[in-house]
Amino acid sequence: MEALVEELNQHTYNYYVLAMPTIADYEFDKKLEQLATLEKEFPEFADPNSPTQRVGGEITKTFKTVKHKWAMLSLGNTYNEQDLRDFDERIKRSIGDNFEYVCELKFDGLSISITFENNKMVRAVTRGDGTQGDDVTTNIKTISNIPHHLNGPDIPSVFEIRGEIFMHRAAFERLNREKEELGEMAYANPRNFAAGTVKMQDSREVAKRPLDCFFYSLNTDKLFANTHWESLQAIKSWGFQVSEHSKLVPSIENVFDFIKHWENERFKIGYDIDGIVIKVNSYAQQQELGFTAKSPRWAISYKYKAQEVETILQKVTYQVGRTGAVTPVANLKPVLLAGTTVKRATLHNANEIERLDLHEGDTVFVEKGGEIIPKIINVNLEKRQPGSIKVIYPTSCPECGTALVRFTGEVAYYCPNDEACPPQIVGKIQHFIGRKAMDINGLGDETIETFYKQGLVKHISDLYTLHKKSDLLKQIERFGERSIDNMLKGIEDSKQMPFERVLFGLGIRYVGATVARKLAYATKNMEKLSHASIEELIAIDEIGQRIAESIVEYFNNPIHIQQIDLLKSYGLQFEVAENTITLQSDKLTGKTFVISGVFDGVSRDELKDIIEGNGGKILSGISAKLNYLLAGDNMGPSKLEKAKKLNVPLISQGELLEMLK
Ligand code: IVH
Repeated sequence: MEALVEELNQHTYNYYVLAMPTIADYEFDKKLEQLATLEKEFPEFADPNSPTQRVGGEITKTFKTVKHKWAMLSLGNTYNEQDLRDFDERIKRSIGDNFEYVCELKFDGLSISITFENNKMVRAVTRGDGTQGDDVTTNIKTISNIPHHLNGPDIPSVFEIRGEIFMHRAAFERLNREKEELGEMAYANPRNFAAGTVKMQDSREVAKRPLDCFFYSLNTDKLFANTHWESLQAIKSWGFQVSEHSKLVPSIENVFDFIKHWENERFKIGYDIDGIVIKVNSYAQQQELGFTAKSPRWAISYKYKAQEVETILQKVTYQVGRTGAVTPVANLKPVLLAGTTVKRATLHNANEIERLDLHEGDTVFVEKGGEIIPKIINVNLEKRQPGSIKVIYPTSCPECGTALVRFTGEVAYYCPNDEACPPQIVGKIQHFIGRKAMDINGLGDETIETFYKQGLVKHISDLYTLHKKSDLLKQIERFGERSIDNMLKGIEDSKQMPFERVLFGLGIRYVGATVARKLAYATKNMEKLSHASIEELIAIDEIGQRIAESIVEYFNNPIHIQQIDLLKSYGLQFEVAENTITLQSDKLTGKTFVISGVFDGVSRDELKDIIEGNGGKILSGISAKLNYLLAGDNMGPSKLEKAKKLNVPLISQGELLEMLK
């Protein structure tokens, strides 16, 4: 077991730190699996820092409070050049002219302090109030970029390392979209998502959300290095991720250059920063400068102003989504902000309207920070018109008039009239034809809206009778014969879509693509699934109470059963096909593939389905992070060369199937 731990840690280091994997991921997983089996059998020998911890599994009900050995202070903020010049002057008065600065990005996440003893991670604690925070070690251990074990010369036997946990914007957008699709509350920005994740009780959930961390400071009992810059180089060599953008500079003028450079560049990196941190490099000089009650005198942050503008709130409208969630939207007098014209801003939910105490015609401040969608941050009360009308969140659905309801534990209001409320019906059919569901060719969201307005479709099942209505279809503007044929063929082809896609397409609350796949493969067919009890559903891997209740409720509705019967009679798939290899497992979860070349008896699209169906992901190009290049015959030489250069393992069709056995 010890040997396995050591070997796996070495591979993790090679992969994440050196970006030079020396083992195929598949082999790595095999070894990890072997270690997990041994740990189960001999728990008394299990290493608490075992690499198996990365997949999570432990549930924390309440986090233990831990006192920080070194307080986690905050930084003084500056917003303009003069403040920074004053900071520079204060330092010069105290220590003279002979010093350097380190400029760093100010990552917009949450800070973490991790203690290592004898090269092992022993504790990870949130900032809390600065003197004490929450012990979130099990959750932090799931973050793949953070080492649990270190090796190398000269590593202090005890140290605390500090960094910022964050989520990449792309991951945030993807996961937030999934949340919205499931009718759950979306997070406002990547920082909130990361913070919410670190404090989750189920570390297995944490492991699924891609968090990342940049480290930026080190605390030790004995002075370890002479400068901050040296420390950064050292922690990097021990395997911690350190930003490549930090810079050692000789004077405040260079600090301004750095700030100017990142003013625009910050939008080009894949994660949010909200400013720059400037630190005096020498530890001796840091000591001389000392601290105020709250922050060090040797460091300061320069915050970029969130781009902000004033405009008029013309009206609040309400959007009803396919799940029935009613979302308020602020319609604004168009205004230029950060290079784009802003006409609308999100208001999230009823609480947000209350918080802002919005009145129609208000002058509002709109901000575009790291977030993509602009946000109203405040109302300019001085400009409020006398007699203006307060915005009141409706009590009934703006589309169909049904009284709105609120589910326990959710902030959103819902229209419960899911079978007759127009945007819900349209939204459900749009969801059904969508790429992740039935992926129907020749049919788009707008067409569905038109069909609904013309009375051609009211239910998902109506799509499959459209071929009988060609006369009506021909009357639709800009819908030529070729488009109609194309669409009808797409609809016909969709009858072959596997069961799990149909199930996902039905749009059952909380049943996303992954859950649909789990359910399909656990129950094998609709008959069994529709009769399953809550207990039976919960027994399925990853299905919890909330999802189980939602499923049972769905099948209790006779309209749903009638729809399913109709779809069945039209020939859609309601069973897992016997001979299918697709969507059978999670064996490739977390693995990335590029497919190239020609394969024996199977098309690239089919291989793509197999990979995705087993949880893998297809990437468009080769990079150092790619796990496998699935190589067929006649592959382009440049791809081959790039893969070799980046050490990306090549696998054959046979090896892929071997992985799936
Ligand atoms: S150094 C004495 N460096 O900003 C404080 N902090 O406002 C030492 N932060 O709590 C912190 N990027 O969460 C430092 N490159 C960076 C940072 C950084 C983000 C955060 C950190 C800290 C807060 C202080």
